[in-house]
Amino acid sequence: MAPDGQTLAPNVFDAEPIPQAARDEIERLLTSGDLFRYTAAEGAPVAQLEREFAELMGSRYALAVSSCSAALFLSLKALDLPKGARVLIPAFTFAAVPSAVIHAEMVPVLVEVGDNYRVDMEDFAAKLPGADAVLISHMRGHTSDMDAILSLCDAAGVPVVEDAAHSLGTEWHGKKIGTIGKIGCFSFQSYKLVNAGEGGILITDDPELFARCVIMSGAYEHNWKKHPGLQNGFMAWQNKLPLYNMRMQNLSAAVIRPQLPEVAMRVAKGRAGHDRVAARLNDSAWLAVPPALPPEERAPDSIQFNLAGAWSDAEARAFQLEAKRRGVAVQVFGLSEDNARAFWNWQFLGEIPELPKTRAMLMRACDVRLPTRLTEGELDFIAGALCDAAFAVKG
Ligand SMILES: Cc1ncc(COP(=O)(O)O)c(C=O)c1O
Repeated sequence: MAPDGQTLAPNVFDAEPIPQAARDEIERLLTSGDLFRYTAAEGAPVAQLEREFAELMGSRYALAVSSCSAALFLSLKALDLPKGARVLIPAFTFAAVPSAVIHAEMVPVLVEVGDNYRVDMEDFAAKLPGADAVLISHMRGHTSDMDAILSLCDAAGVPVVEDAAHSLGTEWHGKKIGTIGKIGCFSFQSYKLVNAGEGGILITDDPELFARCVIMSGAYEHNWKKHPGLQNGFMAWQNKLPLYNMRMQNLSAAVIRPQLPEVAMRVAKGRAGHDRVAARLNDSAWLAVPPALPPEERAPDSIQFNLAGAWSDAEARAFQLEAKRRGVAVQVFGLSEDNARAFWNWQFLGEIPELPKTRAMLMRACDVRLPTRLTEGELDFIAGALCDAAFAVKG
């Protein structure tokens, strides 16, 4: 707040403080030097995090790893598909997602995404024949039509992995995102709902897939026995799978665990804040926030909206500048150079496919961070600045 009572442009990039309980636990770990997840016979912070996360999600198993990308890689590897297997992914996602597919020695097949940021089901159905797996990125927490996707994939016998990096707390027909496919993967990288700097976790109800993920994550020798539910029946995988060493360390778990009880509150605040800003933006003739799909309860910590109607690239850039002048940073995904969410920059794929729907969406889709800690005044400031910026260009 400025001295004259005016709300200042909020800082949307700073993270929230990590709870005190994490500091106490980190001090204890630093004093003992016990940072490796498998040193203790039982009760290591990483093991406790896995138990608590599985409980929070209502899933049988959880495996904490070094990142969501690692979780995606292990999930694909655990499916035991042949080298060169074709994996459908949405064309609107972060570059780490096709990268995880390539890392797993598979081939990403990009599916069109509509201007509501969700998988285009016509293109999905057309590309599913010949696919060996499907990896659905719920990009920025937008849930694609999981009923249609699951029904098509079940009929075709194709496994679905969920990239729920941005979807902790999101529900679909009241079911938690990440529990719909065979495996769900989450990120604890900063700018996610739970922040550990880096980190990831995967959840599944499938004991076979879980056993394979555990071994490949780096549970060498008999360390897999420290994962509840994996006693002797899974000896079969011992020494049969590579050890990729993507384990989480105890310090990360110490940072994450005290944030889990805050998830429900952050989800509620994030949803209310998002909807408050969305209502204001939808009042503008030039901005449009696509609605959630009916079965979806979102858990956003950012807002995406489209420049509605006819905007030139120059006008879209002018909108960004006008918003910046008012203190609000807007990313138009397709307009910033080398943007990691614009598929045409993924040159590591080799040939970049033509995806006109996704390209058109990315050229007019805007992204603004809305951390769940923002006050109503700060949210109103952001909404006002965006509407004023649109008016300045188009009014
Ligand atoms: C949609 C999506 N999936 C996966 C990832 C990878 O997460 P991590 O940084 O934990 O590897 C990200 C990263 O931000 C992401 O945006």
